Amino acid sequence: MSERRRPVIVTCTRGAETALAEELGTILPFPGDANFQVQRGAVQFSGTREDAYRVCLWSRLGSRVLVQMVSFDCRDADELYDGVRDLAWKEHFGVRESFAVTFVGTSEEIRNSKFGALVAKDAIVDRIRGRGEDRPSVDLKTPDVRVHVRLAREVASVSIDLSGVPLHRRGEGGRVQGPAPLKENLAATLIWQTGWLKRAAEGVPLVDPMCGSGTLLTEAAAMALDRAPGLGRHRWGFTGWRPHHPETWDRLVEEAKDRAAAAADRTVAVYGSDIHPEAMDATLKNATAQDLTLRLACRDFFEATPPADVEAGVLVTNPPYGERLGDEDEMPALYARIGDHLKRSWPGWDAWVLAGSPLLAKRFGLKPSKKLEIHNGPLDCRFVHLAIGEAANGTDGPGWRKAPLD
Ligand SMILES: C[S@@+](CC[C@H](N)C(=O)[O-])C[C@H]1O[C@@H](n2cnc3c(N)ncnc32)[C@H](O)[C@@H]1O
Repeated sequence: MSERRRPVIVTCTRGAETALAEELGTILPFPGDANFQVQRGAVQFSGTREDAYRVCLWSRLGSRVLVQMVSFDCRDADELYDGVRDLAWKEHFGVRESFAVTFVGTSEEIRNSKFGALVAKDAIVDRIRGRGEDRPSVDLKTPDVRVHVRLAREVASVSIDLSGVPLHRRGEGGRVQGPAPLKENLAATLIWQTGWLKRAAEGVPLVDPMCGSGTLLTEAAAMALDRAPGLGRHRWGFTGWRPHHPETWDRLVEEAKDRAAAAADRTVAVYGSDIHPEAMDATLKNATAQDLTLRLACRDFFEATPPADVEAGVLVTNPPYGERLGDEDEMPALYARIGDHLKRSWPGWDAWVLAGSPLLAKRFGLKPSKKLEIHNGPLDCRFVHLAIGEAANGTDGPGWRKAPLD
């Protein structure tokens, strides 16, 4: 890729596209040149290999970083085979490397992605091996090079996946998980949307009172401390890719280490609590593994008030959404209680809550000043901003309700 510009496609959670484009603008050295295009579940820009490395190292909101090598009209398997075979694959890897093909999308003729992946794989193998030569091996789990083919509206685009495993896997070890953890890139998207990062340096606190294994908290603290999420990883999709330029990558890693060291003394006011002691254990383990200091307590949200001695700040949380069988019926009442408790006990706070469905988002009974559509896996969630004004008077009913309960 040298310093030539190519389309770089960064995938993300659906609903996170605009926030991702904003984040990419802070990662790239010349964002004005990048020409961001927001797509469904992705942001595309025009960038160099170094730009793509920067995104791998720094993006918390992205999932995969795909560098597009070619795109062509593709109506059937023959056109797919020819288009993929046309690429000079030996510039990317040879018979000694392993590879895998991820195929996304279908057409009238190519109706299943397994078939598409098979055709693309055969085309690559046929192009790389000469007469009587060995063939590169396919390794679906840990390939040296991961090829990504996307077919949409009869156009195929063929990319190299520089992320390898998705970017939400921050380190090699993995996290201790609770019953329904958020993916790290979704948690980072939520933190980004609250706007807290711009206020963190002023000491504005961030609280998650139903923190589970603490994903929102660790992402928030790491972002405020200018930690590049990619510093915890050693294996990337470009490690076995022939055009990889280790000197450029190593320089970016050193820069990232310098930035983290320069920000290490920042005081970051991040608080977490949960009703379950196991959740607090998991949060503490996850924070310690990342060398982050959080202020943690085990308690029931409905018996808790904001941390003492702090000005009102940002509360961000994702309450249970009825993930356990039989729990769904209790959710509307739980969400109404959350709205009531926020109104009574968290005056002046900016509350951001990820509701498990559009209907549940209405049960808070408070009029949201912002409502964002976000997909958490298959769940069509709403991330609502409830600007809590004055405290509600009295305890005998939600007389402040602005939104109907049905
Ligand atoms: C969907 S999970 C949060 C997952 C978390 N964001 C993560 O990434 O691990 C919801 C959490 O709310 C907690 N919870 C439920 N009721 C609570 C209450 N009354 N007070 C505090 N925490 C509560 C549960 O223990 C659970 O950990």
